[in-house]
Amino acid sequence: MLKRFTNYYKPHKRIFFIDLFCALSIAIIDLLYPAFTRTILQDILPEGNLNSLFTLLALLLGLYIIRCFLDFVVLYWGHIMGVYMESDMRRDLFNHLQKLPFKFYDNNRTGELMSRVVNDLNEVSELAHHGPEDIFLSVVMLLGSFIYLVQVEWHLAVLIFCIMIPLILWFTITRRSSLGKSWATVRVKMGEINSSLENSIAGIRVARAFTNELFEKLRFNKSNNDFRGAKRGAYKSMAHFHVGVTFLMTLLNIVVLAVGGYMVFKESIDIPDLLAFMLYINLVIEPIKRFTGFTQQYEKGMAGFRRFCDIMDQEPDIIDRDDAIELINPKGNIELNNVTFSYDDENHILSDINLHIPSGKTVAIVGPTGAGKTTLCHLIPRFYEVNSGCVNIDGIDIRDTTLSSLRKSVGFVQQDVFLFTGTIKENILYGRPDATDSEIKEAALKAEIDDFITSLDNGYDTWIGEKGILLSGGQKQRLAIARAFLKNPPILILDEATSALDNQTERKIQKALEELSRGRTTLVIAHRLSTVRHADKIVVLTTDGIEDQGTHDELFDRDGLYRNLYNSQFV
Ligand SMILES: Nc1ncnc2c1ncn2[C@@H]1O[C@H](COP(=O)(O)OP(=O)(O)OP(=O)(O)O)[C@@H](O)[C@H]1O
Ligand SMILES: [Mg+2]
Repeated sequence: MLKRFTNYYKPHKRIFFIDLFCALSIAIIDLLYPAFTRTILQDILPEGNLNSLFTLLALLLGLYIIRCFLDFVVLYWGHIMGVYMESDMRRDLFNHLQKLPFKFYDNNRTGELMSRVVNDLNEVSELAHHGPEDIFLSVVMLLGSFIYLVQVEWHLAVLIFCIMIPLILWFTITRRSSLGKSWATVRVKMGEINSSLENSIAGIRVARAFTNELFEKLRFNKSNNDFRGAKRGAYKSMAHFHVGVTFLMTLLNIVVLAVGGYMVFKESIDIPDLLAFMLYINLVIEPIKRFTGFTQQYEKGMAGFRRFCDIMDQEPDIIDRDDAIELINPKGNIELNNVTFSYDDENHILSDINLHIPSGKTVAIVGPTGAGKTTLCHLIPRFYEVNSGCVNIDGIDIRDTTLSSLRKSVGFVQQDVFLFTGTIKENILYGRPDATDSEIKEAALKAEIDDFITSLDNGYDTWIGEKGILLSGGQKQRLAIARAFLKNPPILILDEATSALDNQTERKIQKALEELSRGRTTLVIAHRLSTVRHADKIVVLTTDGIEDQGTHDELFDRDGLYRNLYNSQFV
């Protein structure tokens, strides 16, 4: 996994090495300050060499000016590298999500997937650039200080670097991990607040209708209180942590002052040496903090990356065969041969279905709810794969065609119309993004929605709200039909919505659909049986399979399920 992670550095190698080089230079400049101070106090001042003093100070000033630029590079370009890597990962993840089958989305929550694409990758990006920088800086600073101080006075250096600093590191790392856990709880509670909020806002209309505002308030209060509690815990751990670290740091100062002071007393070191020790100690506090920060960042970032890999490792199971052929302008002769299908490999929704939809004809499927009508339609554009049997178009098994050519040939007006948040025009354009304005208008005219659109102040540029909430059910459906007109596919699947429409709208939609199905192979699922009277063939589907098929008159005469359904709607 680490290798996979480092692969994302590859395209940004140059920035990465520049970033590390600058971090190294910063560490070296920082290490020079106490050494310079010691030299000034020990050699230059006693000799009264004012020239050397100013030369050294000018050098130091120059170095600090250079350090400003280096700092800028690390802060700016370091972050930019993280952002680039994050955006690469996000791009890969999104492209992969586009390939994953419907089945994957049946089993995953939208909110959770979004959090992976947004929050997790953010953590990964932080780790990507701070990680190497932090490790590098802390190691160089600690090692550099140690090497310098050992030469000054090795007893004191060993006491600090082999006993005191490991002690502080041990304390900070163990404390950090409990601090990290507290913050993890806060994030979980935050996620709960988010999902509770999302649910309540999306369902606000239902809540009002059921006058369940109080219930919603209580439910939200609960997650809000949990969140408050978790944050309290986290701040408590944070206070413990900072108090502890600060105390250990001051302890370190006192120990060095005590032992060093004693050594000065015994004349085994002189005052500038002691001062160098004091300055270096305060210099290494920063790398210690960085190092502990890194251990925590590593956990978070890697957890995010693991979740990223989980999705990337899901193989899309519905893909093109190597030798898949293009389905070019099919006539649309559809055959389902012995098709068996289940969502979970256990309960068969469709068993051994044989169905022929001749090219250019309209075939209707009717039957009770839950019989598998929508499911059957989903098999034709290969949204799901059949368990056994096959679906052929013009005699070619759809598994031998490319997915894109197959889906380009099939137009689908779904049972619950999905509109994108945006304008009317954008939504119709979804049928064929390169269509011209006049083609859009023509499609809308055919879908019997043009007069409504032109009556609006902003016409085709009218904003339809989130998922088209500002439109009526009938309007949404006609927009979806306009989209299908624009796509102009040889095969058409209409999954009629169950929502009742007024007579006039129904007639309009009916007219639009008849217009749409002209000259195409059409499979229509109808709940209103009036809409299928003129179909070339009507198929009655129940949970036991195809019960009957024929024209309206034939089925009606047979006095079976169809006649029952028909009578229940019209008598
Ligand atoms: N994505 C899914 N995952 C698992 N089971 C599903 C899924 N979609 C539908 N089902 C199940 O498959 C069965 C058939 O559903 P389907 O939507 O095909 O019925 P339908 O005939 O279209 O019903 P309706 O007339 O109400 O639209 C139902 O029992 C349903 O619970
Ligand atoms: Mg259905």
